[in-house]
Amino acid sequence: MTALRPLLIVPSVLPADFGRLSDEVKELVEAGVDRIQWDVMDGNFVPNLTFGPDVIAAARAATDTPFEAHLMIVEPDRFLGQYVDAGCELIIVHAEACPHLHRTLARIRDLGARSGVALNPHTPAHVVEHVLEETDLVLAMTVNPGFGGQAYIASVEPKIATLRRMIDDSGLPIELEVDGGITDTTIAGAAAAGADVFISGSWLYGHQAGKAAGVELLRAVAIESAGLS
Ligand code: DX5
Repeated sequence: MTALRPLLIVPSVLPADFGRLSDEVKELVEAGVDRIQWDVMDGNFVPNLTFGPDVIAAARAATDTPFEAHLMIVEPDRFLGQYVDAGCELIIVHAEACPHLHRTLARIRDLGARSGVALNPHTPAHVVEHVLEETDLVLAMTVNPGFGGQAYIASVEPKIATLRRMIDDSGLPIELEVDGGITDTTIAGAAAAGADVFISGSWLYGHQAGKAAGVELLRAVAIESAGLS
């Protein structure tokens, strides 16, 4: 297990009421989340369509809490600047959508944001081996992206552990995020494997004791499972 590292709980806004996103964002902040993730989908890279930069920009004034954009889109280089201008401090692109991943990650940083690279469940960890110097976050998808409410794919856990070792061996301050099917149960395996940032959408929105209790529960299970308590 690595040295103490902060474990972050980051909601996906996918389950939110899109008719009141500013209020939804404020409620998430009041619930104690560490950042907010915007699931950007283009109907091409994934079979779903969500929001463009203007929607995110409209919610930006609601809080100072950092926004991250998870770009589940083809040719993300076309839109990097627009999502940074919309107020996202972290831009995550999919390795599968970037023929020049090293250049794309460097460009995100040149635009003044932190860079992230996401790996679909089938994509091996070694894909990021030669871009760790350009990366601030690696996202191991624990579902096939496109929709909320899907089942956690536990077979990704060995890849999470491999990524944890790669990051620790690099000595670089890279966050290891997981996204998809994260609940108070599945978060244990992801945290034990070495993840330190956890995206939750449908479970957090559906938690019967409310979002604040849900954030607290997820954080407690993650800390316990990571051996950091
Ligand atoms: C990709 C999306 C979802 C979402 C979280 O499909 O990025 O993973 O953020 O969805 P839940 O937490 O409902 O699985």
